[in-house]
Amino acid sequence: TTKIAVFASGSGSNFQAIQESVISGDLHAQVALVVTDKPGAFVVTRAKQFDIPVLELSPKQFNSKADYEEALVEELRALNVEWIVLAGYMRLVGDVLLSAYPNRIVNIHPSLLPSFPGKDAIGQAMEHGVKVTGVTVHFVDAGMDTGPIISQQAVEVVLNDREATEERIHAVEHDLYSKTLQSLFN
Ligand code: GAR
Repeated sequence: TTKIAVFASGSGSNFQAIQESVISGDLHAQVALVVTDKPGAFVVTRAKQFDIPVLELSPKQFNSKADYEEALVEELRALNVEWIVLAGYMRLVGDVLLSAYPNRIVNIHPSLLPSFPGKDAIGQAMEHGVKVTGVTVHFVDAGMDTGPIISQQAVEVVLNDREATEERIHAVEHDLYSKTLQSLFN
């Protein structure tokens, strides 16, 4: 069983989908810790419902990004976490985490990268008028949504309907992330 930490800044629906795959037995992993940089984010409520330990640490409490990440690494090592899974963690990963977990940090992004990196990828896609967008799972490097791509799935845009498009994308994310993680852990 692979021990993972899920990092999230917001709602945590991807965290929940991962944890449900763990419970169903489709994903052979254990979520040892949920980390959030936004104390009080809804992901905290979800994690508690599953009795998963949560680390709520605001980078603002630290003098530098390196200090913040050192504190994270200390907790991750104490729990023998092997992989870091970013799920709506809206922050660039720095050198400390990258060198503590080389090729062991993955991210999910709601577009077909390299199109529409950064914030509000779904809004960017709608604005641009693309007919097909999608979901990408990739290894994390120092850039913004830039590391090597592991898996992608296309999603058709629902014309002029952001909410419906978002729903389709989230459904694909919730399916694709667990499957991709399972393929990485084997
Ligand atoms: C997801 O759509 C994820 O792909 C996106 O944030 C959302 C988090 O939702 N991530 C990024 O945009 C990363 N650049 P969730 O909190 O419900 O899982």
